[in-house]
Amino acid sequence: MNAPVMNGLPIQAPPHVKNAKLIAWVAEMAALCKPEHIYWCDGSDEEYDRLCQQLVDAGTFKKLNPAKRPDSFLANSDPVDVARVEDRTYICSATKEEAGPTNNWMPPAEMRATLQPLFDGCMKGRTMYVVPFSMGPLGSPIAHIGIELSDSPYVAVNMKIMTRMGKAVHDVLGADGEFVPCVHTVGAPLEAGQKDVAWPCNTTKYIVHYPETREIWSYGSGYGGNALLGKKCFALRIASTMGRDEGWLAEHMLILGVTNPEGKKYHVAAAFPSACGKTNFSMLVPPAGFEGWKVTTIGDDIAWIKPQADGSLRAINPEAGYFGVAPGTNYTTNPNCMRSLDKNVIFTNVALTDDGDVWWEGMEQDAPGKALPAHLIDWQGKDWTPAIAKETGAKAAHPNARFTVAATNNPALDEAWDDPKGVKIDAFIFGGRRSTTVPLVTEARNWTEGVYMAATMGSETTAAATGQAGVVRRDPFAMLPFMGYNMSDYFQHWLDLGKKLEGSGATLPKIYTTNWFRKGADGKFVWPGYGENMRVLKWMIDRIEGKAGEGVAHVTGVSPRYEDLTWTGLDFSAAQFDTVTSIDKAAWQAELKLHTELFEQLAHHLPKELPETKAAIEQRLAA
Ligand code: GTP
Ligand code: SPV
Ligand code: MN
Repeated sequence: MNAPVMNGLPIQAPPHVKNAKLIAWVAEMAALCKPEHIYWCDGSDEEYDRLCQQLVDAGTFKKLNPAKRPDSFLANSDPVDVARVEDRTYICSATKEEAGPTNNWMPPAEMRATLQPLFDGCMKGRTMYVVPFSMGPLGSPIAHIGIELSDSPYVAVNMKIMTRMGKAVHDVLGADGEFVPCVHTVGAPLEAGQKDVAWPCNTTKYIVHYPETREIWSYGSGYGGNALLGKKCFALRIASTMGRDEGWLAEHMLILGVTNPEGKKYHVAAAFPSACGKTNFSMLVPPAGFEGWKVTTIGDDIAWIKPQADGSLRAINPEAGYFGVAPGTNYTTNPNCMRSLDKNVIFTNVALTDDGDVWWEGMEQDAPGKALPAHLIDWQGKDWTPAIAKETGAKAAHPNARFTVAATNNPALDEAWDDPKGVKIDAFIFGGRRSTTVPLVTEARNWTEGVYMAATMGSETTAAATGQAGVVRRDPFAMLPFMGYNMSDYFQHWLDLGKKLEGSGATLPKIYTTNWFRKGADGKFVWPGYGENMRVLKWMIDRIEGKAGEGVAHVTGVSPRYEDLTWTGLDFSAAQFDTVTSIDKAAWQAELKLHTELFEQLAHHLPKELPETKAAIEQRLAA
């Protein structure tokens, strides 16, 4: 239904839309944004195909060679719109204290006054898509519904892959169900007769959250986490505040199942900052020497975790697809991911080969002799050759180039990925990207020590957000860019949850920290990573089962000795192991200074357990 918008007349919703609040809100937003048409998405395959064709006709999508990559498309964004914009992202809670010192804040009334003129007429000449979506299995008690209004058909088709999107959501919503209202515009109204560009966006950008009223308003970007509002905006920033109020967790975590040769299955949730290995770890293929072990994917980016009456924690993946980093992905490092990308994929900002397929840096590892392609069209539409790359350093794919693909494409998909009950979590992992200082793996001695390590985690910035890459910053729980409220209150929420679970007599999940990214004197990663991370995962499972060696206790917890890991099939010496596990006293003294700085920044409401744990670490370090 492509209903024209008539000034002042009520909105004509399709018969399956029964929610009066929704219809009234769509009318209100249409009156503000003034789109030419309103289109209610039904989530059908026919609709997806039609919108993709429309994107091809508009020049936003290139259809890839069906013989190479069936039913797949490539979009190249505007070069100013390639990643999340953290400096333009706001948490507009009633008070600044509630947003906390790690978030940009503006009083809600002031922000509304700022956005009003920007949204007035922002969809002129465009269609407003009404995108109904469920985060989590439809009708699951853990799931929540959102409605995104967007003037971007690129957003509509990505939301179809990334969420449970369509008509059935209206059935669950019913006449008076609750939904999170999400408004998105690329901020590029079209005057009469004006020709559209392939990737409309605006140099002014606002990604705004009102936690009290659970609303999201996004202006000026068409990209990923700025525009697909079910993802970081809803499933993390808004959901984290819902979790605070209702006693659950919304986390930037993958969820995987790991089955040992005896057939016993465990579930692990792991938080690594953006572009630090979640998708890869969730699809891990155990290496040679690990016959009988199996890793299956429940989710690759976000986990909603709810405590149960028996003291266990059950987790669901609120998403239904992966919006993953392309560069570095190949059949050696992540074969499951490569197979997921065989067909039905939307690629954004990768390079185009001369035979109509895609390419990105890191893919050459698949080619015999690791040859580079002779010629490509790069992500900005320019010619690319190995010679040009050598001379100018030009990347064929943007470092934050991404694929959008349905979870059901993943050959390693866990059978419980869509289970409304979720899976029971046995361990948490927190892992940063650190060239130095932080050892390969450490087990926290208790919940509080684990919370401390997660809270003080540092990581080098990546291309997943605009700004300088490679700078170490504190990224508590890998949630720095995604927290919907005061970070210290969130630490308290984690500590309280631990106490509550302990109180019910349950065994708490163990907490680990990892670092796959220590570098040697030659500047190269020492740890082989990817599938070889199975060796670390097995150690964790062995620890849970009480089978691992005693390890070595050190300043921040317990790490394995060389002989505690299984080395079959990998040539990795004790000396190499030492370079990725050693604790350098001076480096840790410097590290603790950074923890002090963090705690000074977060002093308001900082749980006392954290400075207490720090004091204990300092004592151990001095001993
Ligand atoms: P977001 O989608 O941004 O949240 O990222 P992510 O955490 O899912 O990261 P992803 O798995 O996509 O990996 C990001 C980059 O890190 C890719 O270029 C990977 O090749 C690389 N990477 C992932 N795992 C490892 C590892 O174990 N070792 C090394 N050296 N690199 C890795
Ligand atoms: C991340 O940056 O952590 C992502 C990509 O997963 S985005 O959807 O842009 O947030
Ligand atoms: Mn992410």
